[in-house]
This record gives sequence, C-alpha cells and structure tokens, in this order.
Amino acid sequence: MNASDTPKGRATAAFEETYGGEPTALVRAPGRVNMIGEHTDYNDGFVLPMAIELDAFVALTPRDDGVVRIHAVDLDEEGAFDVASVRSRDARGDASARPGGWLEYGRGVAWALQADGLTLRGFDATLASDVPVGAGLSSSAAVELALAAAFGVSSRLPWDATAMARRMQRAENLWVGVQTGIMDQLVVARGVEGHALLIDCRDLHTRPVPLPSGVAVVILDTSTRRSLVGSAYDDRRRACEAAAALLGVTALRDVDEAHLERGRADLDDVTYRRARHVVRENARTLAAAEAMAAGDARALGAAMDESHASLRDDFEVSSSALDAIVAAARAAPGCLGARMTGAGFGGCAVALIEERDVAEAIGRIERTYREETGHHARVYVSRAAAGAGPVTLP
Ligand code: GLA
Repeated sequence: MNASDTPKGRATAAFEETYGGEPTALVRAPGRVNMIGEHTDYNDGFVLPMAIELDAFVALTPRDDGVVRIHAVDLDEEGAFDVASVRSRDARGDASARPGGWLEYGRGVAWALQADGLTLRGFDATLASDVPVGAGLSSSAAVELALAAAFGVSSRLPWDATAMARRMQRAENLWVGVQTGIMDQLVVARGVEGHALLIDCRDLHTRPVPLPSGVAVVILDTSTRRSLVGSAYDDRRRACEAAAALLGVTALRDVDEAHLERGRADLDDVTYRRARHVVRENARTLAAAEAMAAGDARALGAAMDESHASLRDDFEVSSSALDAIVAAARAAPGCLGARMTGAGFGGCAVALIEERDVAEAIGRIERTYREETGHHARVYVSRAAAGAGPVTLP
C-alpha cells in the first residue's frame, strides 16, 4: 500500500513538507462502531461499542510557547491559535460548517484541558484521518482524542483515559456545541484490541469483552447523511428526560419493564415508546455482553436484530436506507444479526457475519442495496482496535 493511502502516511509526509523536518511524535485515535446499546448512554445506561481500524493521526513537534499550528491534510487547510486565547473564555458552540470550522476542535480540546486545570504547551502538527465524516463512526471523537493525545505529548500530561474522555465530551458538548453522551469519547480513549467495551454510562466503569471467534464485524455505510440529526437527537433526549421525570427516577437506567408498565398511564404514547426502547435496550445490551463473553455469536446477533426493530419502531431513529441495508445484510449468507448503529437517520449499520461467508455476503449486500435504493454502500470489515495514544515512530 502507498503511504499516502493511509492517514499515518499522509500525516507524516505532509509534516516534512509543511514544517521542513521530521515530527518528533505521532499519536492516533480510532473511530468506533457500537455493537449494541443505542441511545442509552445519555440515560445513564449500558453500551457495547468497540474501537475500529480507521483512525485519526496527528504528527507533531512540541513548541516552547502556547501556539498550536495544525495542517489538516485531508482538507488542505492550515490554522493556528494560542492556547492562552481560549484559557479564560466561556465555552461556546461555533464549530459550524464554515471554512476553518474544523479548527474549533483544536480550540475546544485546549479549552477543555485548561478548564480542568492542566497547563498546556503548543505544537506544530499535521492531522489526517480515514474515519468517514458524518457516518456515525465518531470521526469527531477520533479527532478530539488524537488532539488530546498530542497535547499529552507536548505538555507531558498524565494519560488517564477516562478523565480524557470526559474532558473531550465537554469539548464536544460545550465548545463544539453537540449534546452527545459519553460513549464515543470513552471507547475511543479506552478501546482494547480484540474486545468490545461494556460501558456503564453512570459510573463509567468499562469491562472489555472479547469478540467471538469465527465471526466478522462488518460496517455498512448507507452513504446517506441527514443534516437534521442534531435536532432529532435533542428531541429524543428530551423525551427520555420527560419519561424519567414522570416515572420518578433520575434516569431511565433506573426503570425496568414492570416499573414502566405501572407508570404507563402517565405517559403519552410516543414518550412511552421512547422509554420502552431504552428500558429494553439496556437489558438487551447486558444480555448481549454475556453472549459475547460466552462466545455465543448467534445470541449476540439475535440481540442486534431486536435492537434494530426497537430503534425503528419505538425510538424511530432509523431511515429507509438503514432499513434497506439491514434487510440486505440479514438476507446474506452467514449473517447472524444486523442493526443500525450510532445516532441514526443515516450513516452506518453493523452486521455480524460468519468469517467464511464474509466476501460473498458483502457482494450480495452491495448488490441488493444498490438495486433497492440506488445508493452505493461503503463497506468496512474491522477488528476491534486499541484506544487513543502515541504510536512509535519508525
Ligand atoms: C451519538 C452520540 C452518542 C450516543 C449515540 C446513540 O453517536 O454521540 O453519545 O448517544 O449517538 O447511541
């Protein structure tokens, strides 16, 4: 493979061209795919994501001052700021799609680290990523954690992965202005090779669970994106909070099916169905983690199928493209289960497919999906990768 085909190769090659020397450090952070546990993180619930083999890379050389220069190689844009300029500012969300908006990720990361009392030194850097943007694979969390790791190197910060994930969630929520839960940043920071992470989003305890052998995780990008996903996401969060308040609990995590049924009369139909998804999805996620740990790929696949139906019918965050690609996956040879993954409305599905059938299954899924929708799927087969951190330079 040509070096310019990989984000690692692009970041290191561009470093020399931009700054005229070799970088002294290279850091990376992966994207993620969620196996199961969708729209549960902001309900203090359970999720089971894994870090994937698509990454954001930052090549850097620390500076003696607070200046951060970043060359975003994939966009061919450069930007700079001084960490002092964001030190005492209130957070604000303005990483809208305007040119140079990507630099707000850098500012937001510097803001969140300093807001937590860390002292920063700047760096000269190049940034390149192959995590597709807007696909539901956490391209922003990958960039945030890669930049956090870059500050980790330049400023000799202690690397506490969970603390870093929390800070990067604050950067995303309060600076970039997107109200996500903790799942993405935490698995991107803490991912373990060969394992998914069962995360308790209330106390942030993580338990690595080995992926069953003989099956592949196949990520199916519908190539559709929906721009209103932010407002629909906020709407779902509000419905969950309303349901929790009406049921007399802090978060839907504290509700089981019996409790939900007792309180049903107090909820309108939509709020009830939103809550039912979360309550059942939490139970399904715990069961799926047990199935995974026991190597029971069939039970895991069945839970994924049920999760999709619940997201489609009760939580209503699927889309015709997602439903079509999930149906195409289920009809393919060796498929044990498939579901939409991430926030929904577009982006990716994830399927569990017997390793021996993967090549044929992918061909069939691509064909069926194209015939049904006219869209071209992008397909990634990924093992579970390690979380963010430094990479040894050659
Ligand atoms: C997005 C958010 C996550 C999570 C999922 C839905 O990916 O960033 O925090 O809420 O949606 O499960």
